Amino acid sequence: MSLFQPADPITHSPHGEHPVDVVIMAAGKGTRMKSRLPKVLQRLAHVPLVQHVLATAQQLQARSAVVITGHGAGQVEAALSPLAGTLALKFVRQEPQLGTGHAVQQAVPALGDDGVVVVLSGDVPLTQADTLQALIALCAGQHLALLTIDLPDPSGYGRVVRAGNAVSAIVEHKDASAQQRAITEIYSGIMAVPAALLKVWLARLDNRNAQGEYYLTDIVKFAVQDGVRVLAQKTTDAVQVAGINSPVQLAELERAYQRRQALALMEAGVRLADPARLDIRGRLTCGTDVEIDVNCIFEGAVSLGDGVTIGAHCVLANCTIEAGAVIHPFTHIDGGALGVQVGEGALVGPFARLRPGAQLGAQVHIGNFVEVKNSTLAAGAKANHLAYLGDATVGERVNFGAGSITANYDGANKHRTTIGADVHVGSNCVLVAPVTLGAGATVGGGSTITKDLPAGALGVARGKQVNLANWARPAKKPK
Ligand code: UD1
Ligand code: MG
Repeated sequence: MSLFQPADPITHSPHGEHPVDVVIMAAGKGTRMKSRLPKVLQRLAHVPLVQHVLATAQQLQARSAVVITGHGAGQVEAALSPLAGTLALKFVRQEPQLGTGHAVQQAVPALGDDGVVVVLSGDVPLTQADTLQALIALCAGQHLALLTIDLPDPSGYGRVVRAGNAVSAIVEHKDASAQQRAITEIYSGIMAVPAALLKVWLARLDNRNAQGEYYLTDIVKFAVQDGVRVLAQKTTDAVQVAGINSPVQLAELERAYQRRQALALMEAGVRLADPARLDIRGRLTCGTDVEIDVNCIFEGAVSLGDGVTIGAHCVLANCTIEAGAVIHPFTHIDGGALGVQVGEGALVGPFARLRPGAQLGAQVHIGNFVEVKNSTLAAGAKANHLAYLGDATVGERVNFGAGSITANYDGANKHRTTIGADVHVGSNCVLVAPVTLGAGATVGGGSTITKDLPAGALGVARGKQVNLANWARPAKKPK
């Protein structure tokens, strides 16, 4: 963006002269979820449904988002408040819930007159910003624009009634005649409408209908009466307008979402053993020639470098895997807030566990049943079997034996273990921190090391072996 742009707010607005204000209806109970959690806080790809909707509003560069809360209002507001980002986030409570029209009426004081209002639902998580952008363009600051879709089974939905090509009404299923129920084009629940017109129409709503509710969809009728054009934008993508009412629908939409992510990865060249057996609950970035075997889960921010291979059944969260590294099956990596780094060409697993702050250099080997936490391993270091490295600094080419651990916790505080380059730690050793092993030192198997070991020395700390010749083992007494 040029630094010399004119300071005219109109040209700054991404939507020309019509700023966009989003209204997110999120007051409903979601009885069919049979959960104590408000429906809009149920998670899709680990993110609350309504947070997906807010993220879309942010992508739209909306001026504000007004969230209408009711059931679990406190919880919903607490979950969203930290996520306002660049848009003005406002909450309005709707108590009791008397219908979608009544819901949007509550938002009126929070809405300017100059904008276009985009109405969304907190339980419809996967609408894409470009779809809404097109709807806003169709509205053009003067028309009522509805997002619609043809459904093979339209029952339960509001039907889009047309007079010729123009939309004349939305009739709710319970109010519809048999003839109207045969209409397959339904209203998605998403519209773009000039704020000033919306406010006028909302004031005219009544609840004289089959459900005794204030229907937002009745504004279509008022638009027609007022000579305002009602335009429908028909989508063919059911995923974008799918709402969640039950655990089954939630799981189905989760699969649809994951399938989309898998397809996008494959289009970028990632080789997935099976796109149906992949879950991304965050952001996965891949270099070229990445291969991912079945049943892997990626959470938070994960980055895989060129030529990385991920074996089957791995869970990777908040980590960076550098080029050529191989993560063998059943490995669990959780970088938490500190992150985990796996260096170039490193081999990890099978059955390895990397915890926050594990930093592995190039060509490091971490084998089965090895746990690494808050530790740095320099290039070429190896811990191949049954080991724990916690709060340790490990030098280049160190070989850390099977069954050996750093005892980093004295019951009150954590302490560091420092292991110089080329140290060889035998099997079944306990390094009691704080302790330092000098470069090139050797620790005899079975040692409990409590004192620093100078460079190049051998440290052995265990009972001496005693051999008793011709030892007769106890025998069972005859009966
Ligand atoms: C609504 C539409 C219908 C459309 C369908 C698409 C109306 C009258 N009907 O029907 O034409 O086909 O969506 O899914 O708008 N909500 C509130 N407060 C309320 C009532 C609802 O916040 O008082 C919220 C709900 O939590 C939900 C959304 O509004 O997120 C839609 O409400 P819902 O009851 O699902 O509307 P439908 O009857 O399905
Ligand atoms: Mg509904």
